[in-house]
Amino acid sequence: MKLAIIANAVIYAAMFVSAVPGPISGSTNVAVRDPTMWYNAKLKKYFLFSTGVNIRLFHSPSLKGPWTRDGTVLKNCSKIDFGDRCNPWAPDVSFHNGTYNLFYSVSKVGSATGVIGLATSPSMKRGTWTDHGEVFRSRPGFIGIDPNYIDFEGPKLVFGSHLGGIFMASLRDNLLKPKYANMPRVNLAGGKDRAVEGAVVYKPKSSKYYYLFFSEGVTLLNGNKPPKGTEYKVLVGRSTSAKGPFVDKNGHKLTEKRTPATGSLVLGSHDNIYAPGGQSVFFDPVSGADVIVYHYVKNNNLTAPATLGINYLSFKTGWPVIVKDPPKKQTQKPTPPKAKPTPQPEKGGCKA
Ligand SMILES: *[C@@H]1O[C@H](CO)[C@@H](O)[C@H](O)[C@H]1NC(C)=O
Ligand SMILES: *[C@@H]1O[C@H](CO)[C@@H](O)[C@H](O)[C@H]1NC(C)=O
Ligand SMILES: *[C@@H]1O[C@H](CO)[C@@H](O)[C@H](O)[C@H]1NC(C)=O
Repeated sequence: MKLAIIANAVIYAAMFVSAVPGPISGSTNVAVRDPTMWYNAKLKKYFLFSTGVNIRLFHSPSLKGPWTRDGTVLKNCSKIDFGDRCNPWAPDVSFHNGTYNLFYSVSKVGSATGVIGLATSPSMKRGTWTDHGEVFRSRPGFIGIDPNYIDFEGPKLVFGSHLGGIFMASLRDNLLKPKYANMPRVNLAGGKDRAVEGAVVYKPKSSKYYYLFFSEGVTLLNGNKPPKGTEYKVLVGRSTSAKGPFVDKNGHKLTEKRTPATGSLVLGSHDNIYAPGGQSVFFDPVSGADVIVYHYVKNNNLTAPATLGINYLSFKTGWPVIVKDPPKKQTQKPTPPKAKPTPQPEKGGCKA
């Protein structure tokens, strides 16, 4: 009896301790900000990109490492004629029509203007990237920053932060420019002075929902922690359409200004993980799992550079949950190639 109680207590303690699993092993010494990742099945390698001079590039044979730093994406600065063009931010990797795409942003300290650029590669390997420069830049009402590509009724880009919030707009088929000169766009989240950023719209194969992940909060201020609860974290909303409206677990739209703020927590500070954010999400064909990639600060070393975090996600409950192991692979028939959706121009759009 007593033993059983002790055993239960131990099990309970174990459950409590493992409430949020730590990042999968192999990445605790990889310094990155705003990481984004994709798998090249031909090369059997994961490629990882991060904010930094000319966009930092890493590769690994496994999600568990070892990660090899392998130079940069851009040979010598972006072609974009603006701001700190040698130090692009917040890259976003994706695969479209046989080509790997890396959208990135260029900004200028003390300016609310940002420019989104694109580099492409047939393999993601070092030395294979071509920079195409500017796709579009900030306009009144939005900031051209934090790009995220998604194929939904044609190529779309999710972008923005702070001023105006997060938006989605159509790109041309070659992804090099907006589809419409006046850039009609849908407001997905934030705005009304709410500083949400780093948005990613992702649809798990196992779900009927699209999920909008975003970051909000502040990170260390001169090495000091901000007031508890205000630190950087990853939040989410979901929708049956990539164009929204996205709602949180309370059914509140992410575009609504409310107190407490909208968005349901996916990943906050826990154990040695402090102020996680700058996330991206991708499907890992090796484990068959949806994977979230982010940066965080180590609680036991607040002065160390931000570190790479990788975790498996489960959407079984209808909401993303960080899980220790990849959810069981679903046995599914090979899906036939997707039929091309009929293009649906947004209201008010005029062809560029
Ligand atoms: C790299 O770009 C910078 C900025 O345009 C330029 O000043 C420098 O000469 C370039 N370096 C090389 C090796 O091309
Ligand atoms: C897809 O790629 C092929 C080969 O590079 C190219 O000819 C074609 O125009 C591309 N299609 C689109 C929609 O970009
Ligand atoms: C903290 O991080 C710095 C930079 O990565 C490293 O040099 C130092 O050894 C770390 N300190 C501890 C206690 O881990």
